[in-house]
Amino acid sequence: MHLTDSLTFKTVMKTLFSFIFIFASALQIALAQQTEQKQYSFQPGEIWKDTDGVHINAHGGGILLHEGIYYWFGEHKTSGRTGNRAMVGVSCYSSTDLINWKNEGVALAVDQEGSGSDIEKGSVIERPKVIYNEKTGKFVMWFHLELKSQSYNAARTALAVSDSPTGPFVFQKSLRPNPETWPINFEDSWKGKTITENELKGWSDEWKKEVEEGLFIRRDFESGQMARDMTLYVDDDGKAYHIFSSEENLTLHIAELTDDYLDFTGKWAVIEPAGHNEAPAVFKQDGKYYLITSGCTGWDPNAARSFVADDLFGPWTDLGNPAVGEEADLTFDSQSTFIVPVQGKKNAFVFMADRWRPDNAIDGRYVWLPIKMKEGRPILEWNDEWDLSYFDNPIQ
Ligand code: GAL
Repeated sequence: MHLTDSLTFKTVMKTLFSFIFIFASALQIALAQQTEQKQYSFQPGEIWKDTDGVHINAHGGGILLHEGIYYWFGEHKTSGRTGNRAMVGVSCYSSTDLINWKNEGVALAVDQEGSGSDIEKGSVIERPKVIYNEKTGKFVMWFHLELKSQSYNAARTALAVSDSPTGPFVFQKSLRPNPETWPINFEDSWKGKTITENELKGWSDEWKKEVEEGLFIRRDFESGQMARDMTLYVDDDGKAYHIFSSEENLTLHIAELTDDYLDFTGKWAVIEPAGHNEAPAVFKQDGKYYLITSGCTGWDPNAARSFVADDLFGPWTDLGNPAVGEEADLTFDSQSTFIVPVQGKKNAFVFMADRWRPDNAIDGRYVWLPIKMKEGRPILEWNDEWDLSYFDNPIQ
């Protein structure tokens, strides 16, 4: 090879390497941008990517706002039909704008399979909600628990506690609330009744009346009341309440928690006896409490319901289905899970719901919609894409 040939060869190679280097760097930047792409809107029902570019895995969730940061806790689902069982635990994500969420990992991990723990791998952990206790400085998580291999028969509520919002939460106990106490809105004459389920035809008018008059409350009086779909609500005075579907999912119970939020005080009331409500979510506006629920059709959607009260213990007034427009009768193919107040905005509440995919649980979607108040009623309208500026100028 001549000297000039060798120089040309070197120049060509150098240029080639420079091109490869520039191309690789550009590719790296493009990939990084793709994974960290900032989002600007809610797109209900679509794949919702976290800041790593992965579909958020926090179903049946609830949100805690702590020191300016939102923490979203939810059921970590896996693929396939078994994906609704707790194989991993409760996930946690953080955000400052409710749209872009960073995966904070597993806040509450399941215990090892075969350990015999209440929260062993393969149990059912649903609808986790976390609240912060100002007095103790602890983060308190309550969730619906079904023990492994017992289908939905255990109907328990369970408690886990952490020193940090992202965990690790440490499992404390599971229980059926309020044994040997009567609701505060329950007639004395119903306490001594002796009629049982066997003497009644299920779903008959007489049966329904007996449910309203405590058929299941008396049955479960000693063991404690059943507790399935649930939410937590902390009022302005710091008192916390646990609201859950009880009595074979026929009646909601609202129960006051102790000052440390780690137990029940024994003060509780029934909401909508025999009303068949699930998926409770609460918000407070202008001194009134609003409750949005679903009916009971398992993973299938149904029409939402809404109620209003001046006092959390009732009486609650039925306001009907808050959803309006196309697919309102199926709540836009979703089921309520929580209502989050938007920080820094007055009377701004986001309705959070799940679009379940029981055949491939991990593919479940989130339907978040703004709540609009109209003539004293919460209204939910479908919106393909929206952002928090909605609350600055709500469409009338
Ligand atoms: C729904 C409930 C979900 C889950 C499901 C199981 O009604 O809201 O949280 O328990 O039933 O079928």
